[in-house]
Amino acid sequence: MMESWREMQLVLGLISLLCFWTSLLAHAAATQVTYDNGQLLINGEPRILISGSIHYPRSTAEMWPDLIQKAKEGGVDVIETYIFWNVHEPLRHQYNFEGDVDFIKFFKTVQEAGLYGILRIGPYVCAEWNYGGFPVWLHNLPGIELRTDNQVYKDEMQTFTTKIVDMVKKANLFAPQGGPIILAQIENEYGDIMKPYGEAGVKYMQWCAKMAESQNIGIPWIMCQQDNAPQPMINTENGFYGRWDWKPNNSKSPKMWTENWTASFKMWGLPARHRAAEDVAYAVARFFQSGGVLQNYYMYHGGTNFGRTAGGPYIATTYDYDAPLDEYGILNQPKWGHLKQLHEVIKSAEKILTKQSFINKDIQNNVMLTTFTDNSTGKSFCFLSNIDSKQDVNVDLGNNGKYFLPAWSVSLLADCNKEIYNTAKVITQTYLKTYKPSNVDTQFNWLWKAEPLKDALTGKGSFTANKLLEQKATTVDASDYLWYMTSVNIDDSFGKNAILHVNTTGHVLHAYVNKKRMGSDWSSDGKGFVFEKAVTLNKGTNHLSLLSATVGLKNYGSFFDMVPNGIVGGPVQLIGNDNVTKDLSSNEWSYKIGLNGENKQFYNDKLSHNKKWTLEGLPLNRPMTWYKTSFKAPLGNDPVVVDLLGMGKGHAWVNGHGIGRFWLTMIAKAPQGFECSEICDYRGQFHDTNCMPDCGLPSQRWYHIPRSFLNEGDNTLILFEEMGGNPTQINFQTVIVGKVCGNAYEGSIMELSCKGGQISAIEFASFGDPQGTCGSFKKGSSDVPNTLSVLQKACLKKESCSINVSGATFGFSNSNSNTPKKLAVQAVC
Ligand code: GAL
Repeated sequence: MMESWREMQLVLGLISLLCFWTSLLAHAAATQVTYDNGQLLINGEPRILISGSIHYPRSTAEMWPDLIQKAKEGGVDVIETYIFWNVHEPLRHQYNFEGDVDFIKFFKTVQEAGLYGILRIGPYVCAEWNYGGFPVWLHNLPGIELRTDNQVYKDEMQTFTTKIVDMVKKANLFAPQGGPIILAQIENEYGDIMKPYGEAGVKYMQWCAKMAESQNIGIPWIMCQQDNAPQPMINTENGFYGRWDWKPNNSKSPKMWTENWTASFKMWGLPARHRAAEDVAYAVARFFQSGGVLQNYYMYHGGTNFGRTAGGPYIATTYDYDAPLDEYGILNQPKWGHLKQLHEVIKSAEKILTKQSFINKDIQNNVMLTTFTDNSTGKSFCFLSNIDSKQDVNVDLGNNGKYFLPAWSVSLLADCNKEIYNTAKVITQTYLKTYKPSNVDTQFNWLWKAEPLKDALTGKGSFTANKLLEQKATTVDASDYLWYMTSVNIDDSFGKNAILHVNTTGHVLHAYVNKKRMGSDWSSDGKGFVFEKAVTLNKGTNHLSLLSATVGLKNYGSFFDMVPNGIVGGPVQLIGNDNVTKDLSSNEWSYKIGLNGENKQFYNDKLSHNKKWTLEGLPLNRPMTWYKTSFKAPLGNDPVVVDLLGMGKGHAWVNGHGIGRFWLTMIAKAPQGFECSEICDYRGQFHDTNCMPDCGLPSQRWYHIPRSFLNEGDNTLILFEEMGGNPTQINFQTVIVGKVCGNAYEGSIMELSCKGGQISAIEFASFGDPQGTCGSFKKGSSDVPNTLSVLQKACLKKESCSINVSGATFGFSNSNSNTPKKLAVQAVC
């Protein structure tokens, strides 16, 4: 029986392989992707490719074409996405590939735009995504151990990987089938965390490679941060910078950088992280200077962690990432434009760069000239880099020219004698975005209802256990919330007054004793904490109800999946007089998964049993309260947000779509040992703590409502407020480019544009040595007088204008200093 089953599998395998290769032959537009000699070859041609990450579930299907088009206009050749296992298989063997998670449609959109794609299957993805992309049901499969040599896990991983590969094949999306996908990835950064898994980790990694190979996809597989990746896997690197000397582990393999972090993600309680355009451009230029052939921006568009998809602990709802396209898809200028120019210059030299014949020459300390030459045409292209983080230099290359080279910058020299780009000289305009009140309605009627607590406060759960259970194994992540309920008998000897002590690994805790709320507490960083509160008890039976809430399940690290959540193990104690302690940890605990409002779907206004809401007596600062209002979509196409200032912590839905967790009372402050700063110096090694503006404000105040979630008529916003908040200040806004700034050096052209609008005022203009950045420019000591009037004449009432930045334009001729003059302008749109 077993033997014939095996044979049948073999025959089926051969048939599917045959069909696949026959389908390849049938496709005229088939693209062959190979590699050799450190080159990535597309139809035999060595290429230099610019790639950008756009994760399909972090935007909506309606947004994809625009995002992809803007990436293309920004000079991106390839769109990369992970596959998010837990959105596709929320329950075992029950799949969802529809609508906003239709990744096949996403890749078709990539193809229609004429771009290539990279399919990072994982299916462990990290990505600041809940549980790293793993469905939580995996955790509960008997005998399973994740990301190691464990048969139960490997079977699940292989089944899902095969499903994805089969779907892609069926849609003819692999390059040899005429599709856009040129590379695929298995696992994710396993090399960084594999050591604690020992021998089993090594075996697993080798199995991953074999399993991937057996999928026969006709394109190369990559493994990122996996220096010991077995052949023919190509190992690639990730980080803020490519490492200068880093090479893949096989001389045939191309040097590829799968994650160039364009800044970083936001967490509850921490400020946003910004990374200057100059520094990202510097990193990209240095990568290509060192012989790299493909680099991918992580992220090119970060987007939004809708619903409960944010990872943890404490990943915020916005995933803007300070990426070239902002959360809403608006150009993040100057980053988008500065990188676009860099891409154009790199592409103009593609033929020379792919010859891979280059020489590095030290010009002086920290200054290096790298010359790439195409021996067949004699053409050359140079990178001139200054890796000193403080010192600007003037470089004299004799017959090949003199160059002013700012600190921490790379100049790109056409024919090795003409500067056509410098990573620190930003001539792209900067956008200052603002939130504009909705042009439709500004007054809202609020309705409310209380979260029904009666059953939980009287200890009525749906099952019991004589211990404190682990939260995610219990809820299987059906909800952020789990009620732990027990009762305790108090006699005279213990006394009425006690301290309730709860040791929890969970993120947030709300405690009730005898139906009365005792208070709430939360961890400052998403790790464990101790809740302690003085309580008054009754003689006889007392009910204790503890609501534990998670804020995103951990997504990174060795054995991250085993990190416990909730009040697991406790202890939960009552500490009475003279420290007499009643340990309730092994009491009989009753459990209830989720809120009643969640189970009844209060957030779904269409359900008939959800029609009862109260208008009178709108409660403010009342915990465990549901709020509802209706609103009209702002007119136009600008992205829509809801400003939730006034609220505490909870979840928000628009027309039943989860727009994410909110947590306004979590104020952004610098991590211990670091300081916040409004001024970001692009120079020197970036790490995610050296440029942190926005401190002292809520970590996230505005929440994206994609246009496709909205109707033309009435829309419903429903909020669940867990801590207590005031919804009366809530309003809907659009995100617009309010001001634009230009900052350009002498000898270049400055372009200012209020796309779709008009330049209505020039707020600042200075030619000389202006200081500061957009929003806070100041004149320097050598300001040329009529700059403002020249700008007003050239730009006012126009959609866009361009200024030749030279002394002549401003009637100034004495320009003989070594440091070129700069023009800075701020205009209102
Ligand atoms: C990498 C990981 C990504 C993402 C990134 C940080 O380690 O591969 O998925 O988590 O870090 O944003």
